[in-house]
Amino acid sequence: MTERLSAAQLDRAAALLRDGALAAFPTETVYGLGGDATSDRAVAAIFAAKGRPNFNPLIVHVAELAAAEKLAEFDDRARDLVGRFWPGPLTLVLKRSAACPVSQLASAGLDTVALRAPAHALAQALLRAVGRPLAAPSANRSGHVSPTTVEHVLDELGGCIAAVLDGGPCRVGVESTVIDLSESRPVLLRPGGVTREQLEAVLGPLADAGAAGAPRSPGMLERHYAPARPLRLDVTAVAPDEALLAFGTPLSGAAATVNLSPARDLTEAAANLFAALRTLDQPRFTAIAVMPIPETGLGAAINDRLRRAARGRKS
Ligand code: TXA
Ligand code: MG
Repeated sequence: MTERLSAAQLDRAAALLRDGALAAFPTETVYGLGGDATSDRAVAAIFAAKGRPNFNPLIVHVAELAAAEKLAEFDDRARDLVGRFWPGPLTLVLKRSAACPVSQLASAGLDTVALRAPAHALAQALLRAVGRPLAAPSANRSGHVSPTTVEHVLDELGGCIAAVLDGGPCRVGVESTVIDLSESRPVLLRPGGVTREQLEAVLGPLADAGAAGAPRSPGMLERHYAPARPLRLDVTAVAPDEALLAFGTPLSGAAATVNLSPARDLTEAAANLFAALRTLDQPRFTAIAVMPIPETGLGAAINDRLRRAARGRKS
């Protein structure tokens, strides 16, 4: 049985994590499947619970820069980004420090570690109560849509993990931006809650994962974010047996419609994205038809997840 813990039971979640058990917790982006990042056993259990291939490394969560500096080599660029965007939806991939206590499994054998300080008050309180870095991938089965509520976590992992801490629905709704600063040229590995525009204002133009000579994030090789129904993107018409994922004024004629944001607000759309995909992923629909979403700001992260979901079904 997975214990469902309220905010008042945070100490129980912290005790479980210190004992090496797995507990999911809310962050401002999506729920994370937490385990003691310094414990090989706990990290191995995370991979097993998710069914995640162990070549795909995990994000390690800390409360603040001081804790992160014990784990990785920070340069001025990294500290500058931390000053602007932590705590928040930005993950930095950095070289592991010589004495880094994080399990090699969490780094999937790489000489780098991905670090993030989440902004959610419960995540902050939990990290401080545990007093150790927490490895935490999104709390879904590998290849599924990330969870933005406790119900989503229990649907995916109920029975497989010790506990889940309830923090209500996640505010941002798409995962953190992952940027690789381990080499001289910064590389955007995953668009997310901090936008490319925000990062480029600080760092100048960013290389994309997969660009010539740029490292790739192992996670980008994975089929990801896939509902069971096929996705049709950028639709301008919808069939009567299809579900419509709308943005702005909805197209008419769909069997069912969820509108990500009637007002065309990308922040609202990101917050609603994963729950909407779950709602529409039902056998009575032949496909999920998705209206066009602008590629600016958070739209880049939304479209990245939608493209991967669409691609996932075909291959
Ligand atoms: O918002 C988020 O980032 C959420 C919450 C729970 O913090 N976590 C999350 O973790 O999305 P996950 O495991 O689902 O995604 C981590 C991504 C993967 O694409 C992985 O390949 C990449 O980060 N990653 C982790 N460590 C890396 C490393 N050392 N080098 C390159 N990519 C790395
Ligand atoms: Mg994930």
